Amino acid sequence: MIRGCFENRRDRFRAEDVDVVSLREAGLSSGVAAEAKVWVQSMDRLKDREDGPDFWRWIEEHQRSDEGNPLFDTFFLLEKATGRVVATGSIVADDRGVGKTYRIEGAWIGGINVRGEYRGRNLGRVLLSVLHRHVQEIADRSGAEVIVNLFTSPDLGRSFYEPEYQRFRTVVTSFGESVCYRRVFRPGRREGAGHHDG
Ligand SMILES: CC(C)(COP(=O)(O)OP(=O)(O)OC[C@H]1O[C@@H](n2cnc3c(N)ncnc32)[C@H](O)[C@@H]1OP(=O)(O)O)[C@@H](O)C(=O)NCCC(=O)NCCS
Repeated sequence: MIRGCFENRRDRFRAEDVDVVSLREAGLSSGVAAEAKVWVQSMDRLKDREDGPDFWRWIEEHQRSDEGNPLFDTFFLLEKATGRVVATGSIVADDRGVGKTYRIEGAWIGGINVRGEYRGRNLGRVLLSVLHRHVQEIADRSGAEVIVNLFTSPDLGRSFYEPEYQRFRTVVTSFGESVCYRRVFRPGRREGAGHHDG
């Protein structure tokens, strides 16, 4: 057990405890984006596995460059009780060039982060189910399968992603050696996504 992630054992979050905001719909000049920006930019490489200002630039750049395709978006989860932005995750065309470098077909999930004091309370799982529901809707609407990849550290891969993704290769990223995972969303297969959101 890793302390720090799990010392806060208060109530577990469920899907109905949060509001979901799409950055594509809200826009970069919205109040939610402004609040999210303050949180994201405060992130610390050691505590949050992100350099805050670099992470916000990544979100903004993807919001602009991936604009034409409804698959690509950044989502924020807001705690209903407080209105606070407590988690974020994105679906992007490529994450830090890994897809291009290693010729990996498909979109990428990235920028997954839960506010420090809220970790270990199921928000990560709720966030994944929100992203999965979005991808499934795109697959249903387009009638075509959508491949989603991600890269992560081996420890997080095993405990956080492995129940829902298939591991397929190891790559070297700016974060060191990372493991790639993949999931294929097929049209009309809604039951595949989000079984952890309750
Ligand atoms: C990783 C992260 C998003 C998980 O969110 P969370 O709300 O803390 O996770 P949950 O409470 O939903 O836990 C889900 C599972 O992941 C596991 N897990 C969560 N954080 C973990 C960690 N740092 N190391 C190993 N396992 C972890 C839990 O054991 C849990 O397993 P279970 O479903 O079998 O009980 C969050 O801890 C975080 O933001 N970390 C810093 C940023 C980061 O590492 N992002 C991911 C980059 S790929």
